Amino acid sequence: MKAGIDLISFYTTKYYLDLKTLAEARGVDADKFHIGLGQHRMSVPPPDEDIVTMGASAALPLMERIDPESVELVLFATESGVDQSKAAGLFVHELLQLPSRCRVLEVKEACYSGTAALRFAASEMERRPGRNALVICSDVARYDLGSPGEPTQGCGAVAMVVNSTPRILELEDACGLHAEDVMDFWRPNYRDEALVDGKYSAKVYLTTVARTWEHYAEESGRSLADFSRICYHLPFTNMARKAQVQLCRSAGANARDYGNAMIDESLGYNSQTGNCYTASLYEGFACMLDTAEEDLSESRIGFFSYGSGCMGEFFSGIVKPGYRQHLLTDRHAALFSDRTELSYQSYEDIFNLKVPADGWDYVFAEYRTGPFRFGGVSGHKRIYEKMG
Ligand code: COA
Repeated sequence: MKAGIDLISFYTTKYYLDLKTLAEARGVDADKFHIGLGQHRMSVPPPDEDIVTMGASAALPLMERIDPESVELVLFATESGVDQSKAAGLFVHELLQLPSRCRVLEVKEACYSGTAALRFAASEMERRPGRNALVICSDVARYDLGSPGEPTQGCGAVAMVVNSTPRILELEDACGLHAEDVMDFWRPNYRDEALVDGKYSAKVYLTTVARTWEHYAEESGRSLADFSRICYHLPFTNMARKAQVQLCRSAGANARDYGNAMIDESLGYNSQTGNCYTASLYEGFACMLDTAEEDLSESRIGFFSYGSGCMGEFFSGIVKPGYRQHLLTDRHAALFSDRTELSYQSYEDIFNLKVPADGWDYVFAEYRTGPFRFGGVSGHKRIYEKMG
């Protein structure tokens, strides 16, 4: 395919809860979260941040590096949508002052939809030289307080510029797909928190790794030896370790030869943010590019994307020479070093604060945010503000 990721940017909120604090509050050994799940902190969205502000904040530095007038497609992938009808991408389109001659829509299939958006955008841009697509993956992962999923909560967004002359990653055509109607994780319209059968979900995830690899290997004729690194969807980082063992088994490879070295560089950001649903896979990719000491130019990266419900895809791409000049590594490092730790009580207070549903004017108190904030609602309309 003559298209792929030209630029990539990650954003997470300015507040976090240390999982030691959560472990104490829940009377659980902190090692369960640190060692058992591989998680250390979870990003928490203050009331005036949501998928729109996070998505726009991830995309803003990219718009400073391309001509925003060249953006003719915005695909917003999320499973924590703020409206049943209007695409969240339209709020972002306005906040970023993108051109009106643009196609904007929202894409949904749990954590998988960012991958669908990326591949659709690449197919479109392959035949539109000189034009750009903006793919945004943005989510807030919420489970019930005290539930097994709680320590895997988190939030964040990834924005990617996709075009036919990518400077970061050129996508390859071969892909392995697996679709199946299962109830491992879902969020009915009347609930703010997801329902999840966690153990079953992990089992279906691993079966989907096997099925998608089989299809990919059949299509491409490649083996694990053709890959330098693998990035996985990260509901928590230890899931990637289990997935890598499964991939080795499916590919007939020895896990000692193709073990943690293929995945470790992709896990650091997620262990500090928690699950970002649609953004998690690409957060892992950004982390790997930012932190790998080895120059990955010309190497093949495998990607496993999983969305509960369920939809899986294994695909690959080749890293472009000179990619390092186009990374936002310093910006990402600054995000992580400039966060405020929450006490358990502040976390619970923020968790329990709901946007009023009566349509009356409501203004949120100002918390620390990025370049955009969700100011409040008026007449059932969400109001977004640019800071500064
Ligand atoms: N020290 C070290 N490890 C410990 C520990 C301790 N004190 N206590 C438990 N562990 C380990 C367990 O052995 C287990 O490891 P394993 O999975 O390798 O066997 C891990 O920590 C988790 O413990 P477990 O008892 O299985 O946790 P849980 O039942 O509370 O929930 C999930 C785990 C993942 C099911 C839950 O977090 C969840 O539902 N997450 C959301 C859904 C999800 O992420 N799905 C994944 C696919 S998308």
